Amino acid sequence: MIQAKNIHKYYGNLQVLKGVNIAIKKGEIVSIVGASGAGKTTLLHILGTLDQASTNEDFELVINNTNINTLKDKTLAKFRNEHLGFIFQFHQLLPEFTAIENVCLPAFIKGTKKSDAEKRAKELLDFLGLSHRYNHKPNELSGGEQQRVAVARALINNPDLIFADEPSGNLDSESAENLHNLFFKLRDEFGQTFVIVTHNEDLADMADRKLTMVDGLIVDN
Ligand SMILES: Nc1ncnc2c1ncn2[C@@H]1O[C@H](COP(=O)(O)OP(=O)(O)OP(=O)(O)O)[C@@H](O)[C@H]1O
Ligand SMILES: [Mg+2]
Repeated sequence: MIQAKNIHKYYGNLQVLKGVNIAIKKGEIVSIVGASGAGKTTLLHILGTLDQASTNEDFELVINNTNINTLKDKTLAKFRNEHLGFIFQFHQLLPEFTAIENVCLPAFIKGTKKSDAEKRAKELLDFLGLSHRYNHKPNELSGGEQQRVAVARALINNPDLIFADEPSGNLDSESAENLHNLFFKLRDEFGQTFVIVTHNEDLADMADRKLTMVDGLIVDN
């Protein structure tokens, strides 16, 4: 599902990623742990095609048999919309839109019919325990509720690959456990692949594989 070689990232003179190699199979749930500042979010953004690696000759990023380096902006955006889902630390919901509208956005961008998108959005929100919050705007929702709306938004296009950065960071332990179980359920039912950055040890240990980042590199456990 993901083949990445020799990822480097510099911010000015600061070298944040120092040649990361990573290979992830379809249907695998991989967790990435490591100290604050180790480069986890930076790596996730590059793997998720949201940020670019610093150029070097041996860099390669192949997702779902597509060589990402060769895609131009528009095709890349389409690829991202159709194949990738994102759940971030800061959920970045649009403030003027209701929960259900936020969830539907990626489906509308893809061209899904409004009624179909809304049906799927409601299923996801129900599943995440938000059936009573369809029409609330983000500032009328708690942090954990906003996080769950962001999860539903990430899942609406049934992405092959989901990137999550501290997905349960804002949740109480019960909601966190539900969310973690949801990831495994989705993988078992639909074969979705997950790359999850987390400080939650339970989640990290539940994964099929736990990778540890130290100072810009993935180290062997
Ligand atoms: N846009 C930027 N410009 C300059 N430095 C940056 C930028 N983004 C991140 N960094 C630096 O890169 C390093 C890695 O950041 P990153 O966000 O990847 O860490 P992280 O492992 O996700 O940490 P945390 O667990 O705290 O989220 C940090 O030292 C950070 O200060
Ligand atoms: Mg981070």
